[in-house]
Amino acid sequence: MFAKWFNKKGKSDEINPINDKNTDWSFLGADMHSHFIPGIDDGSKTIEESLLLIRSMVEMGFKTIITTPHIMIDYYPNNIDIITNGLILLQNALKENNIDITIRAAAEYYIDEYFSDKLDNEPLLTINKNEVLVEFSMLFEPPMLNEVLFKMLKKGYRPILAHPERYLFFHRDFDRFSEFRDRGCLLQLNLLSLTGYYGNNIKNIAEQILDKKMYDYCGTDIHHEKHALAIKSMIGTKAYQMLSNYSFLNSAITS
Ligand SMILES: [Fe+2]
Repeated sequence: MFAKWFNKKGKSDEINPINDKNTDWSFLGADMHSHFIPGIDDGSKTIEESLLLIRSMVEMGFKTIITTPHIMIDYYPNNIDIITNGLILLQNALKENNIDITIRAAAEYYIDEYFSDKLDNEPLLTINKNEVLVEFSMLFEPPMLNEVLFKMLKKGYRPILAHPERYLFFHRDFDRFSEFRDRGCLLQLNLLSLTGYYGNNIKNIAEQILDKKMYDYCGTDIHHEKHALAIKSMIGTKAYQMLSNYSFLNSAITS
């Protein structure tokens, strides 16, 4: 099944297509980036799909999940109430199905003018302590990016930049990654970036950031079964070896 999919996508170089053993991610303890609340973003569509994805997380050794639905005004206008209600439904379904894992919810906030207003007017959902997961446009750097990050810091939040390696406009200016950290931001690697799943450019930059020990967190960013299967089959790859020797803050997340 894996071989069929990976061959079709032509991305088998860093992913072992014939090894169907689960990769053991238990050294991470917690995953802090995923889309498991059904029907509220581009992640899981149904409760059944959520259960299937979360069963994979248990099989891979995760003990805690902080799931992070998108909050993006134009596409996913989620708020704390929507996310909390979805989380309760999911927790109940996990209990009914005897799936033993701790799950809570935060969000993946999309940085734009709307987010800047939100920051002025309401509390944000946090990953751990004061840390907030943020993303922004993949096409261009938002003009208000630095201003918003500064505003977050001033309000006592610590931004975690989700998958910085996926922003192609930063690739020509590697210093930007260290600048973000110098200002107090944390950087989160997407596991799949290291496999070539998003392309070789992204894989190369992710390797460089990892090499310089500039990542603080790593996350699965699982939206659907293909992501889960790809992460499950990273066992034995160079990427998995690199990650298992790296010290991430994931294990410091308290449930
Ligand atoms: Fe995400």
